[in-house]
Amino acid sequence: MTIQTPARPPLAGFGALIDAGSASPGECLEELPVGDLRELVRAHHLLLLRGFPAFADAEELTAYCARWGEISMWPFGAVLELLEHENPADHIFDHRHVPLHWDGMYRPQVPEFQFFHCVSAPGHDQGGGTVFSQTSAVLRDAEPAVRALWEEVTGTYRRKMEYYDSTAVSPVVTAHPVTGEPVIRYNEPVAPDDEFINHPDLEFTGVPADRLEEFHRGLRRALRAPEHAYTHRWRTGDLVIADNYTLLHGREAFTSRAPRHLRRVHVLGEPALENPALRPAGDHSNG
Ligand SMILES: [Fe+2]
Repeated sequence: MTIQTPARPPLAGFGALIDAGSASPGECLEELPVGDLRELVRAHHLLLLRGFPAFADAEELTAYCARWGEISMWPFGAVLELLEHENPADHIFDHRHVPLHWDGMYRPQVPEFQFFHCVSAPGHDQGGGTVFSQTSAVLRDAEPAVRALWEEVTGTYRRKMEYYDSTAVSPVVTAHPVTGEPVIRYNEPVAPDDEFINHPDLEFTGVPADRLEEFHRGLRRALRAPEHAYTHRWRTGDLVIADNYTLLHGREAFTSRAPRHLRRVHVLGEPALENPALRPAGDHSNG
């Protein structure tokens, strides 16, 4: 199959869609050239592959992802099973929202590609969309004075969960590690809310404290503006591949016990990106 200029996912301001319905009958995902797909993700930042025969299990998904590059391994292996837990110890396994962030921010290496395979989608009215924000477009469209404020700020993030206990420090506006294009690295604060399980510990420095509210409000609005954000409404079988170097992502809340099941795999860039934000355990300096 040759890949034509692809359509966008429904209602998206960015991203690319390849629908199996427009491919040759019986075409399988494995026949699409990975090199071409990789360039689509880099150019459009998100690729939705819809309607292709499903991966039978986590192993098949892993084998497919390994064709894209080196898989970033976690203590649990290659595949994170994103499912609501009965008594979650962390918001990742809850049904409530997850604020915007980038993956690997607390890990030794930052993956270039995120793969999300939808094993089972929630119902149409049950929420659970994954929100992606195109941060190079956010910066391109920002008023110079607003962008100048963002460029002053550095975020310090501390988070302890089952798989790590880490501190990450990053300027909010930084450079894409390959292209050098300006991108945003930011973990949205959540409102003090007793129901949010396992809050990360966030601190923002570089501007006077009395400007931080304006900073967060303006940045959040820009990141979530319809022209910069895309909420992916899952359909069973969808495979979404996202550019984690450029996008931030988060999750909408969903109805508890909705049948939402995603599998996620991280694939490293070539060469792998050593996490520039990670600080040694116990080092809370923001130098
Ligand atoms: Fe994530």
